[in-house]
Amino acid sequence: MKIAVLPGDGIGPEVTAQALRVLEALSLPGLTLFEGDVGAVAYRRHGHPLPPETLEMARAADAVLFGAVGDFSCDDLPRHLRPEQAILGLRAELTLFANLRPAAGFPGLEDLSPLKPEIARGIDLLVVRELNGDVYFGDKGERDSAGGREGWDAMSYNEAEVRRIAHTAFRAAQKRRKKLTSVDKANVLETSRIWRETVIEIAAEYPDVELEHMYVDNAAMQMCRSPGQFDTIVTGNLFGDILSDQASAVVGSIGLLASASLGERQTEFGTFGLYEPIHGSAPDIAGQGKANPVAAVLSLAMLLRHSLGREEEANRVERAVAQVLASETRGGDLGGTASTSEIGDAIVSTLLTIS
Ligand code: NAI
Ligand code: MG
Repeated sequence: MKIAVLPGDGIGPEVTAQALRVLEALSLPGLTLFEGDVGAVAYRRHGHPLPPETLEMARAADAVLFGAVGDFSCDDLPRHLRPEQAILGLRAELTLFANLRPAAGFPGLEDLSPLKPEIARGIDLLVVRELNGDVYFGDKGERDSAGGREGWDAMSYNEAEVRRIAHTAFRAAQKRRKKLTSVDKANVLETSRIWRETVIEIAAEYPDVELEHMYVDNAAMQMCRSPGQFDTIVTGNLFGDILSDQASAVVGSIGLLASASLGERQTEFGTFGLYEPIHGSAPDIAGQGKANPVAAVLSLAMLLRHSLGREEEANRVERAVAQVLASETRGGDLGGTASTSEIGDAIVSTLLTIS
């Protein structure tokens, strides 16, 4: 089993170090780690945020554990050299089309949610966001018009793109509470009409999953009114970007939430994927031991589950994190005083008590 570890810049290396300690504590046999440069670190050392050797390392691995990129000192660089190009480049080059973002309330942290505790307690959902299409990758540009400069970004989805993400979402729903909400804007958008018709076609292969359709504006409203109604949500790149951020906000802190970006490639152990916290490189707190490593540790748990077929170890890591969060050991983002490494210590020692 080969894991490419790409810590990145800012708090990326700090939180990734704690995830690696947790991995080490699991003592998995036959595991090899490779470490590569991405983001500002890679730009300084190699002149590019995603050097070819890093990309090759990622391609050759069974999974990628990614920290974060986005050092503000690179703000004056042209767009193609900015640190964020590393993560965008990896998603595109490795055809990681399915972004999975679980959002669930943690016992003991309900008070941190902007929602009422009794509503926050019911949150346990998964957003499956399409990651390789939509306005992000469509034709775009700028032209002169009677109204001055005009920009455009074309939104498009073809059936093949919708089918592959729909399969991912139905399979994910099957492993959860078997309810799938497909979010679109089919009352106005042609893209969404194709999306909806294709999702309905794929649904025939998953009779055990209950499918519902929801317009994106309603979904945004329902996400804060009664998020407990959602199990698995599938949606396009743009709607998914917004809804998954909203879903993570209702849980409490950005330092808690993990994500997986999966492709189609199957390895000997599972599905190839890239795993990262949903937060960025947080330059405001980098180097101060203030970053919460929980999102990075939970990203590792997703890696174990999806790419290495280690469900049991993934569950152990998640249980250890839940126990630590329910205890006094909390970082500044959760109103506590524990440092990054103290939270790591607590997770590792708790993990060793769970069989
Ligand atoms: P951010 O997620 O880095 O930080 C937002 C706020 O949350 C900050 O106040 C930060 O201190 C706090 N925060 C984030 N992670 C935390 C953690 N683990 N523990 C405690 N507090 C935490 O988002 P921001 O500030 O908008 O972006 C910073 C840089 O990161 C930008 O250059 C942005 O482009 C980049 N970015 C990179 C991503 C990636 O690598 N996938 C994702 C999002 C942003
Ligand atoms: Mg976003």
